[in-house]
Amino acid sequence: MQWIFPWKVLKQLMNNSQAMLNPAELRAETASRLWRVIQYEYSESIDNVVKPVLENAEQQAWMSAAIYGCCRYYPRYQNQLVQLLKKPIKGNEGEVKALLILGMHQLSEMKVKAHAAINETVNACKVLDKVWAVKLVNGILRNYQRGLESMVHKTELTQYAHPKWIIKHNKLDWPQNWRDILVANNLQAPMCLRVNQQKTTVAEALQKLRDNDIECEAHPSSNSAIVLQKPVAVEQIPGFFDGYFSVQDPAAQLAAQLLLEDKNEQTLDVLDACCAPGGKTGHLLERMYKNSSLVALDVSAKRLELVHENLQRLDFKSNSKKVQIVCADAADLNAWNPVGENQKQFDRILLDVPCSASGVIRRHPDIKFRRDLEQVQELTKTQKNILQTLWGVLKPGGRLLYATCSVFKLENSMQIQYFLDTANDAKVLPLDIKDAINSDLGSQILPGTNDCDGFFYCLLEKKNNV
Ligand SMILES: C[S@@+](CC[C@H](N)C(=O)[O-])C[C@H]1O[C@@H](n2cnc3c(N)ncnc32)[C@H](O)[C@@H]1O
Repeated sequence: MQWIFPWKVLKQLMNNSQAMLNPAELRAETASRLWRVIQYEYSESIDNVVKPVLENAEQQAWMSAAIYGCCRYYPRYQNQLVQLLKKPIKGNEGEVKALLILGMHQLSEMKVKAHAAINETVNACKVLDKVWAVKLVNGILRNYQRGLESMVHKTELTQYAHPKWIIKHNKLDWPQNWRDILVANNLQAPMCLRVNQQKTTVAEALQKLRDNDIECEAHPSSNSAIVLQKPVAVEQIPGFFDGYFSVQDPAAQLAAQLLLEDKNEQTLDVLDACCAPGGKTGHLLERMYKNSSLVALDVSAKRLELVHENLQRLDFKSNSKKVQIVCADAADLNAWNPVGENQKQFDRILLDVPCSASGVIRRHPDIKFRRDLEQVQELTKTQKNILQTLWGVLKPGGRLLYATCSVFKLENSMQIQYFLDTANDAKVLPLDIKDAINSDLGSQILPGTNDCDGFFYCLLEKKNNV
């Protein structure tokens, strides 16, 4: 796979230059990174693409906001661009397409003054050696700007800036809430922290953050969560590298709280079945009683490296008596826990399955153009398979928490219904989650509820005598 090094960073390394980028260079840099996110073949996560950071913090913040914003509204811009262009931009000129989208975003959402947005984006064509595109970019952006005030969205796709299939499935599943969900998906998510309650309390943590001029509040949805008024770099969070905090949405913090009760003093064998990058693994360990043990499993060796890093930061030794990290397909017991008298059985299983991530679009807006319905249907087969397999290694009386960051019923309540139809030793335990939509088949937190991510949880218990 080709890795395209950001041109400006390369230039800076070669010149050892400390200089700030000029406005056209900043746009050229932003567009070339944006293209790395949106092009199909070399697509990279937004988080990766906004690193390595620019030297100037303000420019870095501008670039990062622009890339996230362009991805957030990509379905709209893509659609509008088709109307504005006489013929499509050639596949190998993707950076010009990215420049046009960046120009449209500056004009419509970033509120950059029109002359600066247009002129500097046009100048960026020269920086990128795309002199042929100067006239095109100038013409398209001027037309776009002229139409902005009278612009009426004729379709739901352009109004909500989501692909048709996501709109359709939200409508089907949430006929009362689909508009709110789509609107919430387009808002910027706040930065939230989880307090490591093995090391400190929420009250002390709030004080420590405020002492360091970080404005923050306790979050009402989880008893370990703090929301920051403005995002900050983790380097600025006091005690972050000593494991006092983790960055995690309050809805995600509920997983460990629902599976391991407060003040639980039992010695438990716990399985975190799809654990990487380890956000919930750390939280489980923070809540586990002394001699309990945890197996953290994931099929991706690369993502497991992040679990190791996370646990190290939180002061937990990987591959110790307390925590074993295993790379294997959870649905393939032969690979990690073969049937036989030595097969390990668990008291608690967290099953945070791979899913569409349709509940966390506000944090990962590129989901809008990376995922399609076919992939989601494939994922439902994996989810079904893992759930059925892991039920076999849950002790009688044990509990399994099925979790997704999805709002689609085919990954959530429909999976649970299918499972209950086949497992007569399973029962659903009621959950008490603030402002969630509860049913006999689990609890759904919709995106934006108390400013949280969208999550689905269902706590299953294995009956003792079946
Ligand atoms: C939603 S993410 C888990 C997030 C994680 N629990 C956390 O809180 O940081 C789903 C994970 O499932 C893993 N996965 C996908 N298929 C799997 C399988 N068959 N067996 C085990 N892990 C799998 C993916 O590699 C991915 O890391």
